[in-house]
Amino acid sequence: MKQEIILSGIRATSKLHIGNYLGALKQYVEIQNEANAHCYFFIADLHALTTPFEPKKLRENTINVVADYLAAGIDPKKSTIFIQSQILEHAELAWIFNCITQLPELEKMTQYKDKAKEHKENINVGLLAYPTLMAADILLYKPSMVPVGDDQTQHLELARDIARKFNKKFGKTFPEPKNFLLKPLRIKSIKNPEKKMSKTGDDPIYLDDTPAEIHAKLKKAVTATSGEGSPGVDNLLFLLEQFNSDSKISAQFRAAQKDGTIKYSELKTVLADSIADYFADFRAKKKEILTDKQYLAQVLSDGASKAREIAHETLTEVKQKIGLL
Ligand code: TRP
Repeated sequence: MKQEIILSGIRATSKLHIGNYLGALKQYVEIQNEANAHCYFFIADLHALTTPFEPKKLRENTINVVADYLAAGIDPKKSTIFIQSQILEHAELAWIFNCITQLPELEKMTQYKDKAKEHKENINVGLLAYPTLMAADILLYKPSMVPVGDDQTQHLELARDIARKFNKKFGKTFPEPKNFLLKPLRIKSIKNPEKKMSKTGDDPIYLDDTPAEIHAKLKKAVTATSGEGSPGVDNLLFLLEQFNSDSKISAQFRAAQKDGTIKYSELKTVLADSIADYFADFRAKKKEILTDKQYLAQVLSDGASKAREIAHETLTEVKQKIGLL
């Protein structure tokens, strides 16, 4: 049986936090190890240009996400890891897709509307064209499945629409990739548990935070109760279940919360220790990876060559079909 192709990416807007880990990266590793598929995992640095950025930070973030992938268990022998901007075909196919996509299709995207509201001073064309670049990211590799969170399903749907439209007009070229919906583990912000943990304007727990940093951040976790119960405490209990394999401990805290005897400071300490232990190996590996510049360069250049070969083949086929010489 032909191996399936699976592809996904993460924007290079910051190094990864525990919300990104549970919601995406951990699941990528499971897919890589369990599915009979070849996986492409890339870092979307071109997409990071659509919201305010600084060159130095962007460079740092990109390398950090690569190291996060590797330290968490994405294995360059099994999967292809690459940086989006190093494969020129992405931007080129995105341009072609821009020319077969109607403006209203992009204007109605919820992420565009949200980001345009959030960054009123920078509603750039790239922000609007974000989904056509994402469609190019995907369709270049002709994957059968694309694991994304539910906030990206609308974009994936557009990629399917573009594939269908292109095939109809220019002949069968792209398979329509299915959504491999990632488990929607919505990790809430520690400081503002009404919102999800986010890379910007939040103080998220990064995967490589030291035990002291994890303790300090959790100490500040909001546990206030309202009529709805306490979203902050629920979030902490959920995290404890994710990062402590001893389910008796979280069951005890849950019981204590029900009968009103829970001590929040104790919960925070136990959770901080659990997260610190869970990522102990990860921290050591990431440090090693970041110091071994040669290894990193090799992984990225191998990944780019493999990706480029496929991307080039698809783009050549596309150009030929649409009449570019
Ligand atoms: N837009 C995705 C996100 O914010 C990142 C992304 C860019 C992506 N290109 C992609 C995901 C292609 C899957 C496939 O999470």
